[in-house]
Amino acid sequence: MLVSAKEMLNKAREGKYAVGQFNINNLEWTKAILLTAQELSSPVILGVSEGAGKYMCGYKTVVGMVKGMIEELGITVPVALHLDHGTFEGAKACINAGFSSIMFDGSHYPIQENIEKTTALVNACDVLGLSLEAEVGAIGGEEDGVIGAGECADPNECKMIADLGVTMLAAGIGNIHGKYPENWPGLSFETLAAVKEKVGDMPLVLHGGTGIPEDMIKKAISLGVAKINVNTECQLSFQAATRKYIEEGKDLQGKGFDPRKLLAPGFEAIKATVKEKMELFGSVGKA
Ligand code: 13P
Repeated sequence: MLVSAKEMLNKAREGKYAVGQFNINNLEWTKAILLTAQELSSPVILGVSEGAGKYMCGYKTVVGMVKGMIEELGITVPVALHLDHGTFEGAKACINAGFSSIMFDGSHYPIQENIEKTTALVNACDVLGLSLEAEVGAIGGEEDGVIGAGECADPNECKMIADLGVTMLAAGIGNIHGKYPENWPGLSFETLAAVKEKVGDMPLVLHGGTGIPEDMIKKAISLGVAKINVNTECQLSFQAATRKYIEEGKDLQGKGFDPRKLLAPGFEAIKATVKEKMELFGSVGKA
């Protein structure tokens, strides 16, 4: 069922667990994530970056693939199809294409401009019943060529954006996309608690879920995080399993070159990673 992320995230916040957002890149990725969510009876959010949307031939193709898969695979758990780190233009394109959830990342704009653009999208999403994620304090690391420094958000600015009526808020708390460097000081729980104090009950979003130690994930959930984004970790699992298949020479045996065989270990590896995360986040059985 393709739904907005609002209800699943409010339930997660109240129940003290988090729903995973797993980014998709192609059919195998999408199928692996949807099947795992169904098997574990977990709500799930499919994240699509603008780069991945372009790679998959545009947002309409993505919507068609996801809706078709939900029907053909008999997926009955709540699924949100969510634009990840959208620009203002990208957000409008995804609203038109039929996404059920949007992230507008205005964190690199001066706060006033972030407020203006977020407000316009709050109105557009409200009319259609879509959920909207906003961001304050850029998340570090590189995503689609955009490099942030891993800032800590200003809790007062978080409140300004939260009060606009967004569904959920991503606040930078020292988190980074991709692998964490050796000398990473960890999440700033001080910032998270201060943001929570200002924004009240709004579900908070933790980006850069790859490589955050389990105890930090659990603590973040206890402090109001209800959505955790994971991207790189599925890519790394897929890559390791595919590498192993080829290094073992399996692509050279029989019909091992068949893409349905060649991509199968990577597909299974994504399923295992998604399962591990859903168990850690506590969303199993919560559909
Ligand atoms: P990772 O790639 O670090 O898991 O981050 C994913 C993310 O936050 C997508 O918005």
